[in-house]
Amino acid sequence: MLEEKTIEKIRQAMTCYPNKQSVCMSALRFAQMDDPDNHLTKEAMGEIADILEIQPVQVHEVAAFYSMYNLKPVGRYHIQVCANLPCSLLGAEHIVDYIEKMLNIKVGETTPDKKFTLSTVECLGSCGTAPMMMVNLDYHEDLTEERVEEILGGLE
Ligand code: FES
Repeated sequence: MLEEKTIEKIRQAMTCYPNKQSVCMSALRFAQMDDPDNHLTKEAMGEIADILEIQPVQVHEVAAFYSMYNLKPVGRYHIQVCANLPCSLLGAEHIVDYIEKMLNIKVGETTPDKKFTLSTVECLGSCGTAPMMMVNLDYHEDLTEERVEEILGGLE
């Protein structure tokens, strides 16, 4: 169930767009940010559909298309490693293997303490500084084993 503050943010956003349907991406972002497990439940997407007066499937289609929306609970730190060609050519697979060993999880999994979730994603638009990953909203580029160790080891 959406929190009152989330509903308020959605209603506020509705004043900034030409029609209700256009608010869908913002509404999904608010719902995800306010969710304790940083993800979108079926119920939350249904409520968004009700508020925006569109079909639930339309909301789900948007949420399923973009990798920035989580359809499963994720840890406090969501590590998203770009696995597209430029990053792969410069070692993204090795970075993924290294993180899997470091955290003792596979891609798509969350550590038992719910601190980290590891995902691979499509191009994040930082191909010139490949390989790269996003941790929550922060970009980390020109990755090496040492950089990954430093970045993830430095997170509380
Ligand atoms: Fe990795 Fe573009 S291919 S950021």
